[in-house]
Amino acid sequence: MKRELLSYLCCPACNCDLTLHSDPIDGNEIEEGALQCSRCSKSYEIRKGIPRFLPAKLAEEVRRNVDRFGYEWAWLSSTSAKNELEFRSYLGEIPLESLATRVVLDAGCGMGKFLALSGRYGAKVAIGVDLAEQSVENAYQNTRSLENVHVVQADLYHLPFKCGFDFIYSIGVLHHLIKPEAGFRKLVELLKEEGEIFAWVYGREGNEIYVRFLDPFRSLTSRLPLWLNKFLTAILTALLWTLILAVYRPLDRLGIRKLPFHDYFIYFYRLGFRFFWGTVFDKAIPPISNYYRKEEFSAWFSRAGLSKVSIVQRNSNSWSGRGRRL
Ligand SMILES: C[S@@+](CC[C@H](N)C(=O)[O-])C[C@H]1O[C@@H](n2cnc3c(N)ncnc32)[C@H](O)[C@@H]1O
Repeated sequence: MKRELLSYLCCPACNCDLTLHSDPIDGNEIEEGALQCSRCSKSYEIRKGIPRFLPAKLAEEVRRNVDRFGYEWAWLSSTSAKNELEFRSYLGEIPLESLATRVVLDAGCGMGKFLALSGRYGAKVAIGVDLAEQSVENAYQNTRSLENVHVVQADLYHLPFKCGFDFIYSIGVLHHLIKPEAGFRKLVELLKEEGEIFAWVYGREGNEIYVRFLDPFRSLTSRLPLWLNKFLTAILTALLWTLILAVYRPLDRLGIRKLPFHDYFIYFYRLGFRFFWGTVFDKAIPPISNYYRKEEFSAWFSRAGLSKVSIVQRNSNSWSGRGRRL
C-alpha cells in the first residue's frame, strides 16, 4: 500500500478517518501494518501490501462466488497487449485517454488488467477494489510499479472510500452480486458532483438461447471442482472455436452477420483462443449470474438520479451504461 491511498480511505463501518500503523518503511510501499479507525477503533490489517477490509461474515454463496473468481484470476493473471483492445471495447465511446488526471475507481478489478491501463493512461489516482483474495493479490503484482495505482480488498456493499471519485467503472461484476442494483447504488454514492459511472452487465437480449439452454447447467458447473471446469470448458471452447473458424469467420468475411452470437464470437476471434476459454470458464463457474433487459438496466440509472444516461448494446448481447451524478 502506498501512503497516498490513505487520504481516499475511511472506515467502512462508520466513515471516519483511519490512522496508519506500520513498521518503519523503506520507500513508499507499506507491506504489513494496520489501519485503525479514529472513532470506532476498528482495525483493518495491511497484508502483502494490500489493505484488507473484509466483512465479518459472508453468505456461503458469496464466499463461493468470489473464491471461484479468485481461482480464475490466479490462472489468468498475466496481462497482455490485447487488454487495451478489450478495455476500449467495453468503454465504447468513453476514450481511455479521458481518464487522464481523474480520480478513478475500478469496482471488482479482478487481476487488475484494466486498472493497470487506467494508471498508464494517466489517472491522477486509480484504485482497484475486489473481494477475492487472489484477485487483489494478482492485481497488486500487476500494478505495484505504477505510482498512481492502488489495490484494496473489500466488499462492494461495504466500501472503505470517501466520496469524491471522478470516474467509477465496473466491468462484469454487478451481475454477479446478490443484489446488483444495491451494489450499483453504493458506487453512485462515491461519485463526486458531475462524476461519471460506467457499468457493463450481461444482457438478456441476444442471450435468449444461452439463458434458456446453457445457463441452467451453471447450477451444476458452479459446484464442480475448478480443475474439472477448466478441462470441460477447454473442450467446449475448442468446439466453439472450430465453429468460429469454419463458419462464423468465413461468413463475416462475406459480410453475412445473421447467425446468433455473431458479433460476440468475432470479438473473441480477434482476442484469441485463451481469452475465449477464459470467458467460457468465467460463465461456467459462478454460483451467481444475472442477465438484464435494457429497461431493467436503464432503470438503475434513473432510480439513482443520474443524468446524461446512455445505455448501449455491446457485441449484440450485453449492456454498457453510463451516467453522471448531478
Ligand atoms: C468476472 S470478474 C471481472 C473482473 C474485472 N472487472 C475484469 O473485467 O477483468 C468479477 C469480479 O468481481 C469480484 N466480485 C464479486 N463479488 C464482489 C463483491 N461483493 N465485492 C467486490 N468484488 C466482487 C470477483 O471477485 C471478480 O474478481
